[in-house]
Formats: sequence, structure tokens, C-alpha cells
Amino acid sequence: MSARRLFTQLSRVTGKACRAALSPSPSKHSSECLKPLNTSKFNRIPPKPRRGVLLGALTSSSVIAVALGVQFQESKAALHEESKEAELSNSVPDIQKFRLAEVERHDGASENPWVTKGKSVYDITEWVGAHPGGEVILHAAGGSIDPYWNIFTIHKRQDVYDILEQYKIGEVDDVDLVDGQVPTKAIKDPFTTDPVPDERLHILTAKPCNAESPGEALSEFCTPNETFYVRNHMWVPSVEEQEHNLVIELCDGTEKTYSMSDLRNRFKQHKVTATLQCAGNRRKDMTKHARQTNGLQWTVGAISTAEWEGVKLRDVLADTGVNLNNPSPDDKHAQFLGLEAYGASIPLCKAIDPSGDVLLALKMNGDTLPREHGFPLRVIVPGNVAARSVKWLRKVVISDEESTTQWQRRDYKSFGPNDTRPDWDAAKSIQEMPVTSAITSILNGFAVAEGTEKGLNVEGYAYSGGGREIVRVDVSTDGGKTWDQAELLDDKAMGTKAWCWKRWRYALGESAEGKTTLMVKATDEAYNTQPQSYSSIYNARGNLATAWHSVDIKSLDKGTD
Ligand code: MTE
Repeated sequence: MSARRLFTQLSRVTGKACRAALSPSPSKHSSECLKPLNTSKFNRIPPKPRRGVLLGALTSSSVIAVALGVQFQESKAALHEESKEAELSNSVPDIQKFRLAEVERHDGASENPWVTKGKSVYDITEWVGAHPGGEVILHAAGGSIDPYWNIFTIHKRQDVYDILEQYKIGEVDDVDLVDGQVPTKAIKDPFTTDPVPDERLHILTAKPCNAESPGEALSEFCTPNETFYVRNHMWVPSVEEQEHNLVIELCDGTEKTYSMSDLRNRFKQHKVTATLQCAGNRRKDMTKHARQTNGLQWTVGAISTAEWEGVKLRDVLADTGVNLNNPSPDDKHAQFLGLEAYGASIPLCKAIDPSGDVLLALKMNGDTLPREHGFPLRVIVPGNVAARSVKWLRKVVISDEESTTQWQRRDYKSFGPNDTRPDWDAAKSIQEMPVTSAITSILNGFAVAEGTEKGLNVEGYAYSGGGREIVRVDVSTDGGKTWDQAELLDDKAMGTKAWCWKRWRYALGESAEGKTTLMVKATDEAYNTQPQSYSSIYNARGNLATAWHSVDIKSLDKGTD
């Protein structure tokens, strides 16, 4: 009998909804992550005075002059001139027309970047410096800002529209319009340069790319780079390694810049094997067993493991001037900024902990970082929610406060099951992950390698954050009345603590006969264990869906591949 492994991937068990949405509206999944914090920050510089405003100011100063009896006749004449001018500007709409080719020349590299919104043209030169997302707005320059505002839905507010309106310089020439609109094909897709995802990944959204690792990848200790899950909030930046630098900014404003070659050659290189897990992993289960949650409906594959290689963040911080043994009281957080606009932070004590293993990674599983996983540089924060492992890292800021992004202050937080009006500011942002486990595949024993029991063999992973090792995985086939222990695999990992998932397997053998449900729960070295029900940990965002994982055995399509 051949030792061919017959996988029944869990997606078959839990349904294939995750494959369905190949091209959903990006806003659907991004909007929940992009709730407004405070749009007043969009207006940090005073808006360019508009003509009407200037006229208003002139008129009132003239009235004051009249009241003071100063040069009454002159003022009267001036008023007359002004009202004539105002009349003129009202009756002759002074709209300048621009060809799309000219707009294109005002791209991100130009001294005067322009964008279009609908058919209006805006010169955003003055706005770039005051824009809260920094220069990310330049990505849209030379074309339409509409697809970007579909991602950053925070902009879809009247007050932000009003600010943009201050920069309007004209409209797209009618020659370039089709049915009075800028044609779709002339609107640049922000995702055109994204890498094509491996076809084995289970795609949840294509733009931005969000994709789960398939069952066969989850059964390997180190997930192959091609099938490592992908979680992007925006597009994948295109950058040449030689052009990329990392800037470290200290609390006193001092900055030091490191090239990729500095990081490669000036610092000792380290290898750390670490699991990354999205806070929303298994969110779909929470929806199914509790109630509707808001976010990408991941099943069990928003988690993967790799051997990361690079320099310790603490070594670079020491080089920049951070006192590792006695940091200044203001040095409380390490904020990470990505090249697109994403950002997050971790407590500085984790960043400089000698056993924290926080890495500035240049390699993944022995290869150059793939573009979708952060090329040329990403931070890896072992043991913490993967949202803190910022990809395309361009800057680290040592600060007395957490990152101000919504991914730090809003998205990755959790609340009581009853909380309908959460206090975002009071809630802690998720850092270390709680213990979890999942069944990832069912193997049909008679076709598995020699020595394996007949009947069903089950495998999966268990993981806990903070470097807490998994010490036990319990399996039940009678709804949790009785339990047995799974075998934990002894995989070898690099790093100071247990930063990786534990793979486990369990031979159900022929005892599966007549059984309907398979359940699994794990315990870590601190004796933390998983909660029984999803309803007890329900939160509207569906974060940390760590309840006992269960699979309906009857529905399994056993022995097929
Ligand atoms: N970094 C940047 N710059 N942009 C992102 O969208 N997503 C975060 C994190 N780092 C993200 C990021 C989230 S939410 C997760 S779960 C992990 O990256 C996913 O990493 P991966 O795509 O390499 O699996």
C-alpha cells in the first residue's frame, strides 16, 4: 500500500466561504479597520484662503474704515470695485481645464503633486506635509484619489471633503471624459503592482490581499513562504533594497538612519523561529457559534510559522543611543511605521528585553523576505499578536505613547460580550496572544505511513503567546464529557523562548465510529487553557476567538485528496 497521505483539509469541513470572495469591495473589509479617530488632525495647517474668503475680509475691513470716518469716498469706491469683482466671479465660472496626461505628470515625484477626485483636479502640494498619513497620499498623486479613499474610508466625511476642496485648481478636460466622468480605465488601481498570490492560498479578499494558509501548509512546522498566510490592509509597496533605509527616532527627536547593508553587516545576525497569528484567526467560528462579528471571516489558517533572520532590535536601539539598562522614563513604547501607512507599537520593555527576541528581519525561511511579507525589512515581535510585526518597516519611533494608528488604538482590542459601546481608550491593545488550538486535517489511517493506526488520524496546532510553551492538548469525541491527550511533536526551533506553535496529532482509530464531534483544547505552561464557549468571549470585532475548537466528524469527506 502506498504511503500517500490523504488530506481532508479543514476548509472542507468548515465550508469554502473563504474562497468565494475573490474581488469584494475593498471597503467592506478595510472600513472596519479604519474607523475615524479624529479628523480634525486632517486640518493641521490653515487652509489656503479662497477668493470668496478674501473678498469677505476686505469688505468687513472697509466697513470698519467707514465707521472710523477715514477716507469715506475711497472706501466707497473700493466697495464698488469689490462688489463688481464678486459679481464677475459669480457670473463667470473660472474653471480651468486640465488634460489627464497633465495630471499624470504631477505624480508623487513631482514638485507639485496633483490628484483628481471625480472630475475635479486638486494641487495637494501644501496638504502633503499636514496629511496625517504622512506622504502616503503621494501614492495617489498623478491620478484619482477615489480608489485610495475606498481603502482609507476615514476620508469619506464632509469635513475631509471640505479640506480637499480648498486645494481645487480646476477640472478634467471634457475631451478626456466619457459620459461626463473620468473613465474607469484611466483610474489607477493601487494594487496593480501587488504580487500574485500562490494559488494554494485560500483567498478572502484580493484587493488588499488577505489569504489563509491551506491545510497542507498548516501541517508543516515551518510554513513554506508561498503558502504563509497573508494579511494586508493596503497595497504591497514596491521598493528596491538599495533605496530603502530604516530611520530610528528617539524621544528627544534625534534620528539615526541605517541602510539595509548597515543592518546586514554592522550587526550580529540572529535566527528566531516564530509563529505569527492574526487576532482574527478563527473569527468565523465565533460568528458561527456566538453571533455576527465584524471583520474578515478567517477559519483556522490566519496563522503560520517561519524561521526569521535578521538583527535584534535592541542591538540597533543601543547603537542609536537608547540606554538598554536604564531607559529614560519617557521611553515607553517602540512605534513601528510601514511604508504604506500601516503602523503599530509594542512596549519598549519587550523591544529591549534580551529574551524578547524582537527582530528586524531581512530573511524568512532562509530566503529574502517575500514582497508580500515585508520586503526588504519587517519587524518580528515573537509571542505578540502579528499586527505588531509591521511589514515594509521604514521607521521606529521611541515614544512616551503608543502608536496613534487605528490598528493600535482601535482595531486590535477586545471587550466584554455585553459591550455595545466600548471604551476604546480605556481598553488595552492586544499584545501577547492567549492560548489557542485547532484541528487542521483529518488523515485516513489506512492510507497513512506504516505504523499509523487504522481509522481516522487527526492533526493540528496549539499556540500560546508570550513565549509560553504548550504543555498539553486535550481531545474529546463526546462533546467534552471525557478527554484524552494528543501527542505533541518535538519540533526544533531557534529562539530564547517557545515562540512557535506545537504541532499535535491524535489517532482516533476506529473509535470514531458513531461519533459526531471532535473537540480540542490546549493548555500552556502557565496553565492557561482555552474557554469553552465563544459566547463567553464574544466581541463584535471577533478578536481572539480561542474557544474549544470543534469539527463535525460526520461531515468529513474522508480519504479524498
Ligand atoms: N504591516 C504592514 N505594513 N501592513 C499591514 O497591513 N498587517 C499586520 C502585520 N503587519 C500589516 C503589517 C497584520 S494585521 C498581520 S496579521 C500581519 O502583518 C500578517 O503578516 P503576514 O502577511 O506576513 O502573514
